[in-house]
Order: sequence, then C-alpha cells, then structure tokens
Amino acid sequence: MVVQFQFSPRGGALGALLLLLLPVFLPTLFSPLGHASPSMYSGLDVMTKPTFQEWNVPKSKHLRLLKSALQRQTSEGELSDLWTPLANESWKPCAESSIAPSLPEKSEGFIQVFLDGGLNQQRMGICDAVAVAKILNATLVIPYLEVNPVWRDSSSFMDIFDVDHFINVLKDDIRIVKELPSDFSWSTREYYATAIRATRVKTAPVHASANWYLENVLPLVQSYGIAAIAPFSHRLTFDNLPMDIQRLRCKVNFQALVFVPHIRALGDALVSRLRYPSSKSGGASTNYLQEMPDVNDKQGAGKFVVLHLRFDKDMAAHSACDFGGGKAEKLALAKYRQVIWQGRVLNSQFTDEELRSQGRCPLTPEEIGLLLAALGFDNNTRLYLASHKVYGGEARIATLRKVFPLMEDKKSLASSEERAQIKGKASLLAAVDYYVSMHSDIFVSASPGNMHNALVGHRTYENLKTIRPSMPLLGQLFLNKTLSWSEFQQSVVKGHENRQGQIRIRKPKQSIYTYPAPDCMCQA
Ligand SMILES: *[C@@H]1O[C@H](CO)[C@@H](O)[C@H](O)[C@H]1NC(C)=O
Ligand SMILES: *[C@@H]1O[C@H](CO)[C@@H](O)[C@H](O)[C@H]1NC(C)=O
Ligand SMILES: *[C@@H]1O[C@H](CO)[C@@H](O)[C@H](O)[C@H]1NC(C)=O
Ligand SMILES: *[C@@H]1O[C@H](CO)[C@@H](O)[C@H](O)[C@H]1NC(C)=O
Repeated sequence: MVVQFQFSPRGGALGALLLLLLPVFLPTLFSPLGHASPSMYSGLDVMTKPTFQEWNVPKSKHLRLLKSALQRQTSEGELSDLWTPLANESWKPCAESSIAPSLPEKSEGFIQVFLDGGLNQQRMGICDAVAVAKILNATLVIPYLEVNPVWRDSSSFMDIFDVDHFINVLKDDIRIVKELPSDFSWSTREYYATAIRATRVKTAPVHASANWYLENVLPLVQSYGIAAIAPFSHRLTFDNLPMDIQRLRCKVNFQALVFVPHIRALGDALVSRLRYPSSKSGGASTNYLQEMPDVNDKQGAGKFVVLHLRFDKDMAAHSACDFGGGKAEKLALAKYRQVIWQGRVLNSQFTDEELRSQGRCPLTPEEIGLLLAALGFDNNTRLYLASHKVYGGEARIATLRKVFPLMEDKKSLASSEERAQIKGKASLLAAVDYYVSMHSDIFVSASPGNMHNALVGHRTYENLKTIRPSMPLLGQLFLNKTLSWSEFQQSVVKGHENRQGQIRIRKPKQSIYTYPAPDCMCQA
C-alpha cells in the first residue's frame, strides 16, 4: 500500500521532531514566512485516514487489567476525594501589576507578526507579540494567523478571538489596530512572501531578549514606520524580562484572549449537557435547565472530566512502540517511519519494552481508560473526549468506551446544525475543546504538546484540578504481566498524588504559559 502524500512530508517530520524535543523548540523554519512549524496539536491527519485496512481490529493489550477494570467497585470515599477541588494553595493570580499600566506618549510605529502553528502555538505568539510591541512602544497590528499545512484552517484572529474585548482589555497597555492605515497597506503577507523586503525581520533568534528587539527591530520601526516579524513563534525569551512585561503576557493569555461569542455559546451548551445529561438527547432545542436533575445526590454527579487524547498515526509511528494492532499495523507504522523519517527516528532501535519502561510510548485509549479507572473514576463518570481523530478510529476508542460508557464529544452532544459554524475548521474545533476543558472539574491530558501545555498552565492559574499521567510509571506497570488490579491501582494512585495540578514553580527557560507561577501568580 502506498501512503499518499497530500503535502510536503516536512510537516510530519518536523512535527514529530518537535514532539521529541519538547519542550525545546526547534529553531529551523522553512519557506518564505516560516511555514512548516506544525502545531503540537497536530499530526498528519490527512495521511492518517486509513483508506485501507492497515491494522487488524486492535486487541486489548491488557486484557487482565481490563477485565478487572470493568468489574471495579469504587467506594464513595474514593470518589469524594477524586472530585474534591484542589485545595487552595497560597498562590493566586496576581492582581494588576503594582506599576499602573501606561501607554507610551507616542507610538514608534507598527509591529506586524505572522504566526505559524495550530491554535495554541498561535495563542502564545499573540501574547509574545503584545509584549514585543510594548517593549518597542509600537502599535500592534492584530496578528496574522498563517494557514497551517496540516490543519488547513484559514480562520483569522477575529474568527477565533473576540477582537474588541482583546483591544479593550489591553487599551491602557498598548495600542492595537485591526488593520494598517492605508499608507502601510502594502505591508501584506504576499508582499513578504514574494521577495526580500527591508521591513521584514526574518532572523529573530529563538527566545530573543528584549535587547535584541531594541537593537534590531526598533531601528527598522523608526526608519520605516513598520516592521514585520516572521517567523515569530517562540521568539521572545521567558527569562530576564522586566516584571511588567511578564505580567502583560499573563494578562493577554488569561484575560484578553477570549473566544468569539458563538464558540463560547456552543461551549456553554456542551458544558450544560455534560452537567445535566438527562435532557441531552433533544439537542439544540432542548431546554436542559428545566429538566435539571438533583445533581447532589451522588459524588461526581453533575461533574465531568475532559480527556484530551491525541493518538494519531504520526505520533504512533514516531514512537516506534507496539500498539496491539498486530503485524499489519506494525508494518504500516514501520513503512510510514521509513517514508517520512528515512531512518532518522532513533526510537526504532529500541525494543517496545525499552521504550515503554522509559515512558516513551503514547498511551492508547485503552491504557488511559485503565489509568482513569485505577484512579477511581467509576462507570458513571461523564467523560468528554477532546480529541482530533484517533489512529485506528472507533475500533480503538471502543475499549475506552467500555470502561466509561458515558463518554461524549462535540459530535454526540451537539446537533449538526449547532456545529455548522465550526465544521471542518481545526482551530475553531480546538477552541471549543479548549473552552470545555477550561470548564471541566477535572482535566486529563494524555498527550504532550501545545494544547496540553496551554491548558495545564491556564488551569493552574485558576487552581483547577489537572491530572498529568506519569508516563514512565505507567509504562513500567503495563509491562508487568503479573501485576494484580489492586497492585496496579495502588501504584497508580500513589504515583499521581502529586500530579493533580499542584503549583510547580517555573524554572529558567520554561514557559510562563505552562508554569504561570511565579510570574503570573503571587503568594497570597
Ligand atoms: C479559595 O480561595 C478563593 C479565593 O480567595 C475563595 O474564593 C475560595 O472560597 C477558597 N476555597 C476554599 C476551599 O477555601
Ligand atoms: C517607551 O516609552 C516609555 C515612556 O512611556 C519610555 O520610558 C521608554 O524609554 C520608551 N521605550 C522606547 C524603546 O522607546
Ligand atoms: C456500572 O456498573 C454497574 C455494575 O458494575 C452496572 O450495574 C451499571 O449499569 C453500570 N453503569 C453504566 C452506566 O454502565
Ligand atoms: C511485577 O509486579 C510484582 C508485584 O508487584 C512484582 O513482585 C514483580 O517484581 C514485578 N515484575 C517486574 C518484572 O517488574
């Protein structure tokens, strides 16, 4: 079988490299405007649609544990611990910076950025763009969102984010314009994509300092009235910046960026249907509020977990692990590796066992089901699946659904009419998942990447429970074929006690968007 390439294979290779190097960013970007920096929420979806049968229906890899999980009994005590919100730590979002925000008297000129990646990578880019404009006393043009070669969603900033809210929240900090005035209307993406231009800043180093911008970009802005920075993703350091600049980045991420009203409305409807499921079936026209059941009669009632699951072919192939799809799947993944990475994926020199014990195999839907069951989630748990396509499709999700029969997603909860506005638009679909994830009682992300990082950071900021699976622990437990359910369960519970969203102080070089303390959070 021949894998069809519908676009350059670079996206996949780089995507996987990025995955490998997480959280280190890979600086090399290609093409005129720095394309091919796929979001971490990505995968070669286009290539993963199995138009042919390349796996046998995946079998359970952990049948013994699975059987126990299906018969599990969860005590009320366990459940109550599980659903209890995080204790208040002494950290709170910092109130406004002690220095009152101030607009510079005059603007030095315009800053324009072109942002690669998927929704969450672009989100970080927007926050950094505001910070750079502030450092330079420049006026920011609403960032241009590049069409990602993998996701192919051409939604603009204004299609995704509430632009008036954005400008309004930041009005005392920086000047922002939706469009360039007519004397600068020549400064477009096409203009920069077709030739070398004096106003284009192409060489911003990864994690550039404030001084780098003052020395290299300010003169351009001053002489031409504008500078266009591309590539811009990951181009501003997290360290050694003035406190007011860091606080401004937090303000953008956690206050200024809200989704457009129709995304929020759809998100709210999904959240309501998860909380008050009895009225779900009627879809859009149902008035769920009138049928509100007594949500307090049981632990976990009215509550829900979001599971962010990314298990695509790109990731599966790159990991070089065995996912139980038999010989056909092994061959298909090996072939994919060969075609895309041509021997550069070093993982394939390790055995499945070695990779697993190092925690380098993405968790399958089945394994996540076992993890959640071991943590104490019972079969009445409402699970919202925030996910793009899963490699192996429903066949692979079926095991998870057995363990959690009340599993939902955008499609099961909303009518096609309600979903019409977001249909086929990867960024808007991701935005809805982001919104629902932020409103869940518990969030579990089984997949590293930008979506994971963004939500872990945002939920930390709001002190919300977030379970981060310990991959090496789970890898080792899943390898042990003699472990009993209760041994498995004890190890899982113990190994995740401190992985539920407790504050982790940012270390140098780490992102303030993933670790908001201490830059965005202060001690009470
Ligand atoms: C935690 O702190 C917040 C903000 O100060 C407060 O509103 C909330 O009631 C506290 N929760 C608990 C459980 O103490
Ligand atoms: C920006 O403006 C502030 C005062 O509003 C001034 O202190 C600072 O030096 C200016 N920075 C630049 C790069 O012009
Ligand atoms: C959960 O399991 C119990 C018994 O183990 C069963 O009676 C019940 O129907 C299950 N609930 C769901 C929603 O499947
Ligand atoms: C598997 O787990 C059992 C029970 O905890 C333990 O005694 C045994 O050493 C483990 N085996 C391996 C290979 O780690």
